[in-house]
Amino acid sequence: MKENVIFCYSGTGNCLDMARNIAKKLGDTDIVMMRKYPAVTDVRGAKRVGFIFPCYGGGLPGHVERYIRDIKVSPDAYTFGIAQCAAYKGEGLSKINAVIPLKYWAAVSHQCTCIWLFPHDLMMPKMGAVEAQARSEYLADRIAEDVRNNVVSRKKLSKALLNRAEHAAWPQIARKQGLTLKANDNCIMCGTCAKVCPADNIKYTGRAVVFGDKCISCCACVQYCPQEAINFGKITEKRERYHNANVTVDDLNQEIISF
Ligand SMILES: Cc1cc2nc3c(=O)[nH]c(=O)nc-3n(C[C@H](O)[C@H](O)[C@H](O)COP(=O)(O)O)c2cc1C
Repeated sequence: MKENVIFCYSGTGNCLDMARNIAKKLGDTDIVMMRKYPAVTDVRGAKRVGFIFPCYGGGLPGHVERYIRDIKVSPDAYTFGIAQCAAYKGEGLSKINAVIPLKYWAAVSHQCTCIWLFPHDLMMPKMGAVEAQARSEYLADRIAEDVRNNVVSRKKLSKALLNRAEHAAWPQIARKQGLTLKANDNCIMCGTCAKVCPADNIKYTGRAVVFGDKCISCCACVQYCPQEAINFGKITEKRERYHNANVTVDDLNQEIISF
């Protein structure tokens, strides 16, 4: 087992990009992806264990909360959590902290990937994709330095009770939005949407794309479609697409990425 393990969920690449930047700086690190059930859950041999994930509707994405309960970490390990968000970190970190106590945590804002809600540059502080990426890389460097030095956060994690109420309603909102997904005539039947969906919600037969009712609203299908052919109803038709420029669909689908 590597000295460091980072569990990472990423819908559209921001979190995976940050996980890779931190892993590169730390060295001797496995990134275990959590888009599906993680390939490794017993990491009691690791000295440092981290969690990097986006805030979705005030909390953890899709199945991540359930998967985290299966992860076994040594009581002596240094643990850290990074929440990526557009504006506010939500309750995700405190949810992880309740299962696996975190010694260090940070929240980093990046472009907003929830395309049916906001344009991608509507992050706090407001900035475009290039500037946001440069800022994320700078912060990844600083976080990696802290992690390497086993820095402990002084600020206590808040329980984020308002976000808890928001997140309780989220699965229904996400599912309902998912029911408005449609591919238009620009679709070239490449199957990218089915490949990038972490919820197995898109069936691609080679001649048709069929959206199911299990959408978690990660927006990856809309953001990665090379033809910009997928929309949530009409809301997203004129909205500019965004996914992290450094992260491909194949990158997202890796089970373990080693550094
Ligand atoms: C479905 C969905 C819900 C989101 N909810 C929130 C939220 O409640 N608060 C927030 O600040 N950002 C929210 N965001 C923005 C993401 O947390 C942010 O864009 C993150 O960088 C995405 O990371 P990823 O590219 O690794 O998936 C949401 C994004 C999506 C797709």
